[in-house]
Amino acid sequence: MSHSYVDDVRPGSGSLPPRARYATSDAAALSLNGSWRFRLSATADAEDDSFAAPGHDSSGWDEVRVPGHWVLQGHGAPVYTNHLYPFPVDPPRVPTENPTGDHLRYFDLPGDWGGGDALLRFDGVESCARVWLNGRELGEFKGSRLPHEFAVGHLLRAEGNVLAVRVHQWSSGSYLEDQDQWWLPGIFRDVTLLHRPAGCAGDFFVHASYDHHRAEGTLRVDSERAGRVTVPELGIDVATGEQVTVPVRPWTAETPRLYDGTLVLPGERVPLRIGFRTVAVEDGVIKVNGERILFRGVNRHEFHPDTGRALDAGTMRRDAELMKRHNINAVRTSHYPPHPDFLDLCDELGLWVIDECDLETHGFVEQDWHDNPVDDDRWTPALIDRAARMVERDKNHPSVIIWSLGNEAGTGRGLTAMAEWIRARDPERLIHYEGDPGCRDTDMYSRMYPPHDEVDRIGRGLDGGPAARRGLPFILCEYGHAMGNGPGGLADYQRLFEAHPRNQGGFIWEWIDHGLTDARFGFAYGGDFGEELHDGNFVCDGLLFPDRTPSPGLIEYKKVIEPVRIEAGAADGAAAGVRITNLYDFSDLSHLAFEWSFQSGGETVAHGPLTVPPTAAGAWAEVRLPEPPVSEKGVGSVWTVRALLAEDTPWGRLGHEVAWGQLEAARPAPVQVPGHDRPARGQGLITLGPASFDVRTGELRTIGPVAVAGARLNVWRAPTDNDNGAPWQPDPRNGPLWRALGLHRVRHRLDAVEVTDDAVTVRTRVAPAGRDVGLLTDYRWTSDGVRLRLTVSVVPQGRWRLPLPRLGIRLGLPASYGGVRWYGGGPGEAYPDSRSAARLGLWHTDVDAMQTPYVRPQENGARADVRWAELTSPQAGLRIDGDPAFWLTARRWTTGQLDAAEHLTDLVPSAETVWVELDHLQHGLGSQSCGPGVLPEYRLDARPAEFSFVFTPLDGA
Ligand code: GAL
Repeated sequence: MSHSYVDDVRPGSGSLPPRARYATSDAAALSLNGSWRFRLSATADAEDDSFAAPGHDSSGWDEVRVPGHWVLQGHGAPVYTNHLYPFPVDPPRVPTENPTGDHLRYFDLPGDWGGGDALLRFDGVESCARVWLNGRELGEFKGSRLPHEFAVGHLLRAEGNVLAVRVHQWSSGSYLEDQDQWWLPGIFRDVTLLHRPAGCAGDFFVHASYDHHRAEGTLRVDSERAGRVTVPELGIDVATGEQVTVPVRPWTAETPRLYDGTLVLPGERVPLRIGFRTVAVEDGVIKVNGERILFRGVNRHEFHPDTGRALDAGTMRRDAELMKRHNINAVRTSHYPPHPDFLDLCDELGLWVIDECDLETHGFVEQDWHDNPVDDDRWTPALIDRAARMVERDKNHPSVIIWSLGNEAGTGRGLTAMAEWIRARDPERLIHYEGDPGCRDTDMYSRMYPPHDEVDRIGRGLDGGPAARRGLPFILCEYGHAMGNGPGGLADYQRLFEAHPRNQGGFIWEWIDHGLTDARFGFAYGGDFGEELHDGNFVCDGLLFPDRTPSPGLIEYKKVIEPVRIEAGAADGAAAGVRITNLYDFSDLSHLAFEWSFQSGGETVAHGPLTVPPTAAGAWAEVRLPEPPVSEKGVGSVWTVRALLAEDTPWGRLGHEVAWGQLEAARPAPVQVPGHDRPARGQGLITLGPASFDVRTGELRTIGPVAVAGARLNVWRAPTDNDNGAPWQPDPRNGPLWRALGLHRVRHRLDAVEVTDDAVTVRTRVAPAGRDVGLLTDYRWTSDGVRLRLTVSVVPQGRWRLPLPRLGIRLGLPASYGGVRWYGGGPGEAYPDSRSAARLGLWHTDVDAMQTPYVRPQENGARADVRWAELTSPQAGLRIDGDPAFWLTARRWTTGQLDAAEHLTDLVPSAETVWVELDHLQHGLGSQSCGPGVLPEYRLDARPAEFSFVFTPLDGA
């Protein structure tokens, strides 16, 4: 056989029809994972197939780990492209240069294996594999993230079996797998030999529905081989194919009730985990068990920074648990069926799943979708094969409520054929596909990255469109592009999901940054491996950093989607009240314990349990807080109410915080700087209270013992990925425009240093070369002898067509001032349109810990609503009170250095200076790296502004 199968559109030959997959049974199984012999060739046919013959001498070969990708194990390199095919588009042909990995695995059968049939199962191989056992060819297949099985019983020997697998990186299948991710060839999921005793299970289909009117479940297990189905807890013992209805508790993502059962066949007992639930579109909304559900979802690619798409069990569990702990209730398995064990976790922990087929042909957009395989009948068998492999494998998971045909594959007959196949096989689930605005094949209208105003219109049914679409429920299969710092605007979306029943929530793009561990760069992204075509750090757009540390975006999302809203309620005399709204779709609040606490000056002075009635899903309760435990002393006070898990759950411990809210009882009293000190001119310096200034430039030199460098207006920030935006965005993109305007290189012209009786006033004009816009900026310094007050006034000149990145002052302190304490929003970073998770409190940290390690360095680390802050060295400190509150950022490099860095390893801390930014305002973040920009309410337009800070030197801090 030649290698012509590689670019044949057909899905393969020799493998068995797809069937239900289950993790365990009492039939023997032998994992063939581990170390395999490996040889890499540059083309598909550089070597003949004699390696597959028993006795072939592979002693000179390398070894690779299976599951794994050879490009992450020292053979070749990964390639990242978003939608461009990294080879000429000439379907179904692929390049002659086609890295091909020959794999060999030698194995003996366990002593108790028994005779009879056996299957060899591959759970995932990218992108095309040809398989031999003991020198006999079994066949070849494509469909990287789908299972393929071969009958091998007749070929097995007790000892010395040789399994040979030739894997080609590129094949016709690659045209169907143009997902935005690294191209990572290899046998990246498990390889298993399954004993098939006489009378063992074939395919089977568990149908378990729930009638919410009667609180009953109906079970029927259709099985290729007849047997019995038992569910002891429900007293069920019926024949396969027989239907039984019994009272049950339903399965939902909030209450993932599973019943253990067994499919008993003459030769095999297969454990079943049965969840009863019914999904339907009724009255134009998606309902499960009769209730509208709201997706608080994420898109999950499979990714690990060391092993790519080869995930171990611990990593999968960690993903599912992290999702649950961050209030996420839904996963879209973008853009292929995940490792099957992940769906077991979704069943067990409770996550709604949109299971997406391994199909994307996005690169054809460059050809205006000409020759798109989904609109070319020659490819239809391959498409249906993919749909069938997904549905058959995953159909017994209660968590899977929606099948998705694929992602970004344009439109065409092939998609309709897939949808028809799926509906015929499984009419009990819904179908999703985003790429067809006509919704020809789908049960819901789905969009990616629509702006807020459009989501509002859709929710109100004012979006027009084809009639078939107007009555459908609406979801955002992708929104909130979590690339770098952001996304902004999530709370604003959430309000639109809660306002309109048709808007059933969405799925953030995406779960995790795909940065690969790399000694040179920290984490590598597109281009770091010398790729000819690549899309840079567009592959790092997750809510988790590559090492699975939650980013500020995830903390924000957790708060925005919290299932319990805690906000100010009606006061009752002196006692404050809180309103507690249950935003779950099914559960009441009895699984939560509420507690109140009272902070004075940031210290908790009293706390206690708060009794909240059980409150049904969708209802709210008003609860009275106790009398304030202490009287206000000008330091600020706040009530904090938290909802905690009342018991351990499989994903979170008792006491895990699900939701919280705050009511500020009193703001700290503003700092007064009365009785003006007189400035005095001395040798080269002006002194005023604790401060000294350069007599010629008016520049601040010292505050008490603290040397201060470069204090002046700052409007620049190292553009975020969302500032830079994606090149295809229709709206103006601020990052490039700011740079073109020269905001990164403004000059400060000194117009006057005025020393009067009670103030030093420095008048300047801040402007970039080559432009007529500028900011007249005055710094007015006053003092009461102890404290120093700075009032900055800014008046824009000329026509500013762009918002400002930020507006504030920055100053340099000695590097020893690395301690930070503040009263304000924390503990983490926040920006104007991403600040829901900032809670008011007294926070301590240090400058290093204030940095957020975005894989591509960019603006980060601002703390919101800071009333006062202290920067401290081991000996002394500087306190800064804001009037009004400000945004605080501190780092050991300049904004210019942050802007220039491409990888985390480019950032080198200064040994001299801590740069502190005190911002009156910040521009929002938005989501323009792949979505809408900053909403008008979070835009920082150049306008006259005045703001003050009071600096107080602290001795012996
Ligand atoms: C979508 C696509 C995703 C990803 C995202 C941007 O268009 O479906 O796969 O590319 O944009 O990160």
